[in-house]
Amino acid sequence: MMLRVQTEPPSSPAAGSPALLRLRGISKNYGAVAAVEPLDLDIYPRDFVAILGPSGCGKTTLLRIIGGFVSPTTGTVEIDGRDVTRIGPEQRPTNTVFQGYGLFPHMTVRQNVGYGLRLQKKPKGEIDDRVSEALRHSRLTDFADRSVTALSGGQQQRVALARALILRPKVLLLDEPLAALDLKLRHAMQDELRRLHQEFGGTFVFVTHDQGEALSLANRIAVMNAGRIDQEGNAESIYAAPATRFVATFIGEANLLPGERKSGVVTLAAGPTFADAGPDGSVTVVVRPKAVRLLGPDETLEVEITGTVSDVLYLGDHIKCSVGMPDGQNVIVHLDAAVMPRPAAGERVRLGWPLQQQRVVRA
Ligand SMILES: Nc1ncnc2c1ncn2[C@@H]1O[C@H](COP(=O)(O)OP(=O)(O)O)[C@@H](O)[C@H]1O
Ligand SMILES: [Mg+2]
Repeated sequence: MMLRVQTEPPSSPAAGSPALLRLRGISKNYGAVAAVEPLDLDIYPRDFVAILGPSGCGKTTLLRIIGGFVSPTTGTVEIDGRDVTRIGPEQRPTNTVFQGYGLFPHMTVRQNVGYGLRLQKKPKGEIDDRVSEALRHSRLTDFADRSVTALSGGQQQRVALARALILRPKVLLLDEPLAALDLKLRHAMQDELRRLHQEFGGTFVFVTHDQGEALSLANRIAVMNAGRIDQEGNAESIYAAPATRFVATFIGEANLLPGERKSGVVTLAAGPTFADAGPDGSVTVVVRPKAVRLLGPDETLEVEITGTVSDVLYLGDHIKCSVGMPDGQNVIVHLDAAVMPRPAAGERVRLGWPLQQQRVVRA
């Protein structure tokens, strides 16, 4: 997979700056289904946050709780220091772009974009000015008087964004905003969303099941799994130090090696042992394919295993090498494409990695 690392330094919450959005103990049950398990989440001003997870993990439910469309079973939602848990969507400083956009099909682009301001009973002159500005900003001026049904998917997406942003929400909520677009358009709209976020200067929270989208857009990512947030942080920290097995496999490629911890020593099923503080029991060691090295005769590393190469694939920018371990599992190693001599299937090799490149998580 491709990890697109942000060029700007990943922002962490500005020291001392209070959270704009605070979720505390938020959960949602639908009958016997726990769509969201009790969770906490803090989102800071100007954050661009991705709620990332597979289908059915509770992302939409969580976003709707923030927007006020679903009331939580337990917990509180605070925005800008104010408890809004019992307050309806139109009274919150949030705006939501729903999956599929939810545009009004019988209205033109201009009427769609102006809808929220008309609802707020703003003077006509102000509405006209703000709509024209929003249309210009979203590059929709040429389509202003068209019916939204006569627009392409990407144009409809821009109308939905303009309709939400014109109300200047403190928090813009987006549910799978780019899922309906084809790949090329999706990339163009990612750039557009980044631009809007920068120019608008607000806080964006978006839901996606697409790790590439989360990595390329968000400065912070909350990884959701079965109703829980497994980990929250910037892309680099989540990739480098996954907190759970699930996070390790959901973001990027990972080797997952089973082991047992006893009295502060972990023994991998594949053989090696190393010191690691923690409770006794089964563990999983996570190590990225890029962190694993094939060792020369004189090289040693903190964790070493001897195995047999089972497969070598040339993938242009790297070589993917699978090595069978003594316990029967394969370890994937990514080697520089220029490596010479290339390992061959059937060859016995020693591989290893430094302790600092691995994470020990619950099995
Ligand atoms: N209105 C509802 N009534 C009953 N179950 C629901 C409702 N909305 C969501 N669910 C269930 O809650 C879980 C999480 O759904 P959802 O939040 O839509 O997940 P995601 O957006 O991550 O795909 C799923 O099991 C889903 O079937
Ligand atoms: Mg959803």
